[in-house]
Amino acid sequence: MSAKRVVVIEGEDAAPEAIRPSIELIDRLGVEIEWLHPPVGERGIERCGSAFPAEAKRAIDGSDATLFGATSGKSAAALFYLRWGRQTYANVRPARFRAGFKSPLVRPERIDFVIVRENLEDLYLFLEGEVEDLAPLGLVSPTARRPVAEMGPGRYALKVITEAGTERVCRFAFQLARARKGRGRPGRVTSGTKHNMLPRSDGLFRSVAERVAGDYPEIEFRSLIVDDLAHQLVARPEDFDVVVLPNLYGDVLSDAAAGLVGGLGLAPSGCYGDDYAYFESAHGTAPDIAGRNLINPTATLLSAVMMLEHLGFADAAERLDSALTRAYAEGRVLTPDQGGSASTTEFCEAVAARL
Ligand code: IPM
Ligand code: MG
Repeated sequence: MSAKRVVVIEGEDAAPEAIRPSIELIDRLGVEIEWLHPPVGERGIERCGSAFPAEAKRAIDGSDATLFGATSGKSAAALFYLRWGRQTYANVRPARFRAGFKSPLVRPERIDFVIVRENLEDLYLFLEGEVEDLAPLGLVSPTARRPVAEMGPGRYALKVITEAGTERVCRFAFQLARARKGRGRPGRVTSGTKHNMLPRSDGLFRSVAERVAGDYPEIEFRSLIVDDLAHQLVARPEDFDVVVLPNLYGDVLSDAAAGLVGGLGLAPSGCYGDDYAYFESAHGTAPDIAGRNLINPTATLLSAVMMLEHLGFADAAERLDSALTRAYAEGRVLTPDQGGSASTTEFCEAVAARL
């Protein structure tokens, strides 16, 4: 196989401290990956006068995938390009417990579900404004029983759910459930929407999910109101397999799901489009521990496992994944968020020793 080209965007605060040793670890797997480090964020501004210069966009366009750290905002333009520019519409966030993860639950052993979050629409269009500016539309709120423009001063945000955007992410979720069923999972998709209060927008998401379900008769489908889903996800997480959600609910519930298995330091993600994918931990930049070599790189490493699978390096992915599993099962060398006292680099060395 020819070498794969992977763009690295380290991000800010503590994120680079997770990315750098992760790359060293991946290199020890002997996979042919050429790492590209275009200037982004602060380095982009210093070198090219832009946080996301043309050179960085070209590097992404010419690559097979991107490994992204986390951003406090300075690398946001790159992140937005990876999402909207490359149309990575399915944000896949697995929540799977492994022995040794510091879960707050008494019996977390059977937790193994995946949130598939729609990644490009809903409330993520950056379209907000002044309530008064809605006056020309003459909208009257049936609940508030008055013209919405008279409710100000205040702001509104626009939520958009499209049929095509929903359909593609739902198909992705059902395909994933089908693939997981082949690996012994139950073959179950659950959608979460607030269709009682948003019968048109969330109602559309729900009805599209239902229609797509018809093409997958071997996959069980349930649609839940999203607040009920939030409760069930905590009360009976082992009942879930694939959960498909509009963007914002997916953002919120995927952090909650990370909390169930043991914290954000353990939560990977992969964002897939039809012709590109990028991989990032679901967590933020952890500014409180920046510069201290304490960040848990597990979320980054599990994202890298997803990336290796995507690039066709299945054996390497499996080796890294099982080395991580063993490091946690033994539990001797763990970072402070998991109850240990190891540094980031000590943890990576422990994983490397188990490859
Ligand atoms: C995530 C993050 C982002 C999001 C932020 C950084 C814009 O929270 O990837 O979950 O809301 O999508
Ligand atoms: Mg988030």
